[in-house]
Parts: sequence; C-alpha cells; structure tokens
Amino acid sequence: MIRVSQPVTGPEELDALKRGLEKAYFGHSADVVELEKALAEFLGAGSRPVVCLNSGTAALHLALACLDLEPGDEVLLPSLTFVASFQAVTAVGAKPVPCEVREDDLLLDLDDADKRITPRTKAVMPVHYAGNPGDLAGMHAWAKARGLRVVEDAAHAFGSSFGGKKVGAQGDLVCFSFDSLKNITCGEGGALVCPDADTARRAGLMRGLGMERPQATQGGPPSRSAYDVVCQGWRFHMSNLNALVGLEQLRKAPAFFARRQKIAKRYDQALAGVPGLALLPMDYERVVPFLYTMRVLEGRRAGLVEHLKAQGIETAVNYPANHLHSLYRGLASAPLPVTEKLCGQILSLPMHCALTDQQVEFIIAQVKSFLG
Ligand SMILES: Cc1ncc(COP(=O)(O)O)c(C=O)c1O
Repeated sequence: MIRVSQPVTGPEELDALKRGLEKAYFGHSADVVELEKALAEFLGAGSRPVVCLNSGTAALHLALACLDLEPGDEVLLPSLTFVASFQAVTAVGAKPVPCEVREDDLLLDLDDADKRITPRTKAVMPVHYAGNPGDLAGMHAWAKARGLRVVEDAAHAFGSSFGGKKVGAQGDLVCFSFDSLKNITCGEGGALVCPDADTARRAGLMRGLGMERPQATQGGPPSRSAYDVVCQGWRFHMSNLNALVGLEQLRKAPAFFARRQKIAKRYDQALAGVPGLALLPMDYERVVPFLYTMRVLEGRRAGLVEHLKAQGIETAVNYPANHLHSLYRGLASAPLPVTEKLCGQILSLPMHCALTDQQVEFIIAQVKSFLG
C-alpha cells in the first residue's frame, strides 16, 4: 500500500534517541530549550518566543488559555478542520463557533465569519489548511478591526511563508504540530509561538502544572522539590526524547520541504484540467504542503477512492465537518451548506517524503485512468 502520509526518519533520529535514553532523564530538559531556540531561529521569530509542548493540540489549548476566556466566550473557526481545533476551544470552557470555508482554497470564509460574530466573540482560529496560510495580513487586519485575538492553527503549515516571512514569525499566537505525520516530526510534539515574553512565561508555567521553581542559584540546579504552584496548569511539557528527534528533523527540514513542494507541483501539473477534478489554488513557492487535497466533483469520489485502494493507493478525507459530530451539533448559528458540500468532495492523495517519483507517476496515472 502507498500510504497517504508517513514520517521519514533515519539513523540520525535513532542516534538521537539513543543519546536521549542514555541520559536516563526524559522530562523537560536542556534539549527542549535547545529545540525552542532552534525553532525560533529557523522561523525568524525574532523576539517572539517558542514554547515546546507534547502536541499541537496542547499548543492550541495553551494559546487559548493565555487569552483568559470566560465560560461561554466564543471562538470563530472553520468547521472543516481536525477535531483538535474544536477540542482545544471546549477544553478552556469556551464555545467553538463553526464557520464556512471558501470553496476554492478551503480557508476560513471571513464574510461568513462576520455574520457569526456576537458580543461574546473573543477570538478567531484560522486553520492553515494543507499548509496554506492564505492572506495572513488580511486575516490579522480583519481580526484587529473587530477587536479579536488570533490563534493560528498552523499544524499543517510548518515551513510555509507569507509576505516573505515564515508562518510563526509574525502575528499573534501561532500553533504548530510535530506529530508523526507532519512536515517535521518530534514523534509527537507541538510548539506555541508567543507574541511576547510575558505570554511565553505564562504558557511555560501552564505546561508544567503551574509549578514555579526558584531560579537556579550558583552551584547547580534548584531543588526539584522546591516549588510553588501559581496557576492552573496541565502536564503538556515536551519530553527531551521528542526534542532530540525534532532537532534532527529540523536539520532535514529544507530537504523535506523541497521534496513536498516538488511532489505537489508535479500533481498540479499532471492533474490540471482532468475532468471532474478541482485543484486547490496553491503557490508552492511559499506553501509547504502537508496534504495534497483536491475536490472530486460529480459524485465520483467514492468510486475514485475504491479504484485507488484496489491499486494499493491509500487516500484520506481531511476532514469530516465538525459541526456534524454528536458533540458539536447545535453549535452553528446558521447552516453550513458550503462545508457540507465540500466534505463530500475533498480527497487527499499521498503526500510525504518517502514517495518515489515512480509512485507519484503511478498515482497520477491511476487518478487519470479512473476519471478518464
Ligand atoms: C488542523 C490541525 N490542528 C491541530 C492538530 C493537532 O496536532 P497534534 O496531533 O500534534 O495534537 C492537527 C493534527 O493533525 C491538525 O491537523
């Protein structure tokens, strides 16, 4: 089976894990701090600190926790996203307000979001679907004009840019995922890029159960048992094992990004104009694709999925609409017909760095042979 998504690791990650295991300490450590610094440098984040966490979901959760939302405060977000975005909102006691996405690029539809704003709306969570941050400047201007904070769900967008700067290097709170399938992986992991040092300090406390330890004095680390608990927190810290894997993956990131972009460009070139397909308008000079998602029109998706499966090609639907899940039914203040239609059309082809050129050509040929 050609997998739709898979990580690529090598002897470097194995060595890193061995070094980590030999330390006989796997919690928050200097390796995590090193990864935070390396990520900030890679992103060109300047004075925006990076806080590493054990998942992208934890990054979203802590970003929202930093906004001091009250129960019942509302967060606008696209219904078309991974459920982690929704769970993070409810985890802090706020209400997710599902919005439409635009039909062509599957990004948050701000005209629709506008209609769902109420006096309780406090934040917006754009999701950079498939790696595309869209018009980030326009998004931030829109939010600023409405007094909303912005939590970017950039789980898909590590490495992508807007306006010559990487996602994360600008904006408000930006959340990345480094789970096993993402553009780089820590095994599991995530990162929150904060707008300032104060927010990073709060996020740093919250990821460690709210425990504040006295600063190290001369002569060694502070005692592990001397701490005060100063705020609600969670056990969201990243393990040094994951950080060591992440540091190796970060070294490989430019090669990974180039490979993903090459595959996506080839898909675009070969599938443009195929009847019954609508491709997403992507600029792969600035977008690093996490997914290669297309729309299969005329009710032909199920047939294409079966055909590809029979040829040993796995595909995925990213994602079912969240407002239709049992837990979230009733949250939408108005119907979401565009999202519901799109959820019947979207299909993701294999996209990862273990794909060979021959496999890419085989996938293209099979898509074309089915759609004629
Ligand atoms: C859009 C989106 N947001 C958040 C997440 C959560 O990231 P993690 O799996 O690291 O918790 C994912 C993971 O797939 C995602 O796709």
